[in-house]
Amino acid sequence: MEVTTLNDIEIISASNSKINSVDFENLTFGNVFTDHMLICDFKNGAWEAPIIKAYEPFTIDPSAKVFHYGQAIFEGMKGYRGKDGSIQVFRPEENWKRFNKSAYRMCMPEVPEEIFLGGLRELLKLDQAWVPAKEGCSLYIRPFMFATDEYVGVTPSTTYKFIIFNCPVGSYYSKPLRVRVETEYIRAAKGGVGFAKNAGNYGGSLFATQNANKDGYDQIIWTDAATHQYVEEAGTMNLMFVINGALVTAATGDTILDGVTRKSVLQIAKDWGMEVQERQLAVKELIEGIQNGSVTEAFGAGTAAVIAPIATIGFEGKDYDLPERKDSDFSVRVYNEINQIRLGEIPDTRNWVWKV
Ligand code: COI
Repeated sequence: MEVTTLNDIEIISASNSKINSVDFENLTFGNVFTDHMLICDFKNGAWEAPIIKAYEPFTIDPSAKVFHYGQAIFEGMKGYRGKDGSIQVFRPEENWKRFNKSAYRMCMPEVPEEIFLGGLRELLKLDQAWVPAKEGCSLYIRPFMFATDEYVGVTPSTTYKFIIFNCPVGSYYSKPLRVRVETEYIRAAKGGVGFAKNAGNYGGSLFATQNANKDGYDQIIWTDAATHQYVEEAGTMNLMFVINGALVTAATGDTILDGVTRKSVLQIAKDWGMEVQERQLAVKELIEGIQNGSVTEAFGAGTAAVIAPIATIGFEGKDYDLPERKDSDFSVRVYNEINQIRLGEIPDTRNWVWKV
């Protein structure tokens, strides 16, 4: 994929690198940050030239709108070190497009391709030593934008900051998950912002997830706001099921994030000749299907989680176990396929890999 070159950028290299203090053999998720970040300000109706500088805290006025009315959006992407040492990012243009859809919904300015992708390329060139080579590890890329107007009136901000920082990471989930069907709280409703990657969606999910954690579950299966009868997504990832040999997942819409891993998994399934059903899935059908053996696999799909197998689903106080995972399972094979594409081990026939 070609990206418009970013000519106007200032790069101030960090005076010291922190890289030697990082234990790349034991990476967890999201608490180690590379040497540099990209910052770009939106003022007077236009984006200024981005700056790449040392990763460090910065000052924001207490009245900045983001703190009060939540105009904040983000993305998640991953960069990999290919077997030949090259650095590649998985489908970043999809994240750029989705970021701008989130921006539109939250009354924020769109970020041009040359800043989002061109800036990312410059940042990755500078911090390329940080892309882990270890199996199962990657560089998690976190672009985000927030409102900076110093004004407490409830109106869209006129100024914003767009930032990208990166973290070398290991797995987001380290074992097959126990998830619970949520039938009291909701994540998103029709006409709302569930499809956007805005910070409030995640803040709003914490309480119910924390309750589930206390009861021994790792994550929640959100259900539809109107009836709590249909499976939606997990908040940190989309949800997928193999039912009678077909791949079933909620259709995208107001309440479902249009996941990049989701669409990649669906495309691979179709290419392999598997039936794909994007439809409403009743919790009742899911639970009965686990009991009668027609539901053979359940897993989450997301950038951070990649493919996260689900071992157990809790519903109305009872646990329902999925069959043991086998190498022949679709979720295992599709993970391997995506992984091999990202590492350059098999041809990238779908043009998904973006070389830095
Ligand atoms: C991602 O998969 O990139 C996410 O945004 C999920 C989570 C880490 C918030």
